[in-house]
Amino acid sequence: MKVVRTIEDKARSRLIFALDVGSLEEAGELVQTLEGSVGMFKVGKQLFLKTGPRIIEYVHERGGKIFLDLKFHDIPRTVARAAMEATRLGVSMFNVHASGSTTMMSQTVSAVDRVCATEHLPRPRILAVTVLTSLSNPDLRAIGVGGEVADQVVRLAKLAEESGMDGVVASPQEIEAIRKICSRRFVIVTPGIREAGAPADDQHRIAAAGEAIAKGADYVVVGRPIREANDPRAAADRVVKEIAAALPLSVAAHAADAGSD
Ligand code: C5P
Repeated sequence: MKVVRTIEDKARSRLIFALDVGSLEEAGELVQTLEGSVGMFKVGKQLFLKTGPRIIEYVHERGGKIFLDLKFHDIPRTVARAAMEATRLGVSMFNVHASGSTTMMSQTVSAVDRVCATEHLPRPRILAVTVLTSLSNPDLRAIGVGGEVADQVVRLAKLAEESGMDGVVASPQEIEAIRKICSRRFVIVTPGIREAGAPADDQHRIAAAGEAIAKGADYVVVGRPIREANDPRAAADRVVKEIAAALPLSVAAHAADAGSD
């Protein structure tokens, strides 16, 4: 039987919920509440260090998907080995720092391809972190990087694509510049999502989910606006509706780049 995916299903698959909590119990409750309302769960350093792979197994047992956000950055062999273990955990996405070098990224991609082929595993998407959104131009200068944050983001995104990475994590302000220089298949995952007029918390470069998708993001990552809502499921459903409304514009944003494929 042909499974018909509605626009809302497609929109839901693009919403990644950040499981930024400190225990398996809290994470489990959120997974149960939101499993039909979001497309993927993001597990970061705090939760992973607390629970280890148990949270990943828990989500997988319930049919959910995981973005493992551990931002690997080390010598190529070490990152490649860590990436193989992330692959064996069956996560759908994980990430590494692009500033770890093209060698680090390409060795990671090769190691993941190899382990998928020999152990018959599904291939996770490997994303690059370019410049952390917490860094400013003076921060870059202090570590000896000239130019603006925006230029460095674009440079690292290009390097990531040339190294065989599947995409990047990028703030809303960076989406269009990355879409211009990377192919339409290069995946952009965007955090820093806030509804218009909502508190920015500690995020500096923010946008609404629909705006990020319209600019060409493939996925949006949302944490506090859903987790801290009175009704998290209703908040997730609102984000999904907004993504659904922006999907036609997203197609246009990707098509505008057709020449670079
Ligand atoms: O709660 P909030 O919606 O701000 O959560 C955003 C999530 O995305 C957090 O897990 C945060 O660590 C992550 N993130 C981010 N900015 C980046 C990369 C990741 O906010 N540049």
